[in-house]
Amino acid sequence: MSADGGTAWLITGAGGQLGRDLRAVLAEQAEDDVTALRRAELDLTDQAHVRSVVRTWARAAADRGRRPVLLNAAAYTAVDAAEDDEDTALLVNGAAPGWLAEELAGVGRLVHVSTDYVFDGTSTVPYTTADRPAPRTAYGRTKLAGERAVAAVGDDAVVVRTAWVYAAHGSNFVRTMLRLRDERPEVTVVDDQTGSPTWARDLAAGLVEAAASDVRGLLHATNGGATTWFGLARRVFEYSGADPERVRPTTSADFRRPAERPAYSVLDGAGWTAAGLDALPDWESSLRCCLRELGVLAVS
Ligand SMILES: NC(=O)c1ccc[n+]([C@@H]2O[C@H](COP(=O)([O-])OP(=O)(O)OC[C@H]3O[C@@H](n4cnc5c(N)ncnc54)[C@H](OP(=O)(O)O)[C@@H]3O)[C@@H](O)[C@H]2O)c1
Repeated sequence: MSADGGTAWLITGAGGQLGRDLRAVLAEQAEDDVTALRRAELDLTDQAHVRSVVRTWARAAADRGRRPVLLNAAAYTAVDAAEDDEDTALLVNGAAPGWLAEELAGVGRLVHVSTDYVFDGTSTVPYTTADRPAPRTAYGRTKLAGERAVAAVGDDAVVVRTAWVYAAHGSNFVRTMLRLRDERPEVTVVDDQTGSPTWARDLAAGLVEAAASDVRGLLHATNGGATTWFGLARRVFEYSGADPERVRPTTSADFRRPAERPAYSVLDGAGWTAAGLDALPDWESSLRCCLRELGVLAVS
């Protein structure tokens, strides 16, 4: 394989929050060899198709003198639905990353994304990559299986755990809060789950940087700082010009969901910066950037 001609990028899950922002970041960086496949074009439950598409793409990229780099932004992310559909989640989150790693072994690089849900959330200090995973949900178990499937191939791959991802598009907490701001006089939000809200655009830029480096193994990457969902909701209201007092706190016990949410999700990014990668910005400044992109930022 020659890398002289630059990089050929393949994005899976290209229609998702991260997938769309990966496309945006690569476009900003004037990358000219980007293949972006949505679920309709590459369904990660179809092993034969996945292997064939990745193999063909990687070979063609190498033939063009390009270094093949696959950014896997596809995942079964419906955390509650996964409780009743763990087999499908396991295919997408657990098995498919291994197929991608196998097809790329010796020919290209894989950047795979994982989650804070691999931990049980009982810590009170940020989780490091050395901490023992102990998922409490089907989603977390399947994502952990995916990490292990990639590691088992042990080739040119990096797995990046992140948390609390939102974007200017797609279905996410920040957009939900903006909608509720317009629909209800008050919203009630849990104040006993702590994490680091992470703008998909910053994560995408970080993943592209990690892809271009030679780092391998397991890393953590989130925006800096931490808050609760209540704290995040209040900032969404405040930064978009609404009264943050309209956001009221509640507890997880009063807001039961099919899948248990980790009480504490903060990830220690020391390995990320030690690998020479730029720390992602503080969550509050990135939230303002996202709200500016949405045209609703009311503060400077
Ligand atoms: N969102 C978070 O808070 C969060 C937190 C920690 C880690 N992560 C991880 O970050 C990564 C990106 O997540 P995201 O926030 O961008 O999620 P997302 O917006 O739900 O995007 C996931 C994408 O994967 C696609 N997908 C689902 N099943 C698929 C299949 N069988 N084959 C191919 N594609 C499939 C979805 O397609 P459809 O739109 O058609 O369903 C969607 O476009 C994932 O690895 C996720 O586990 C996310």
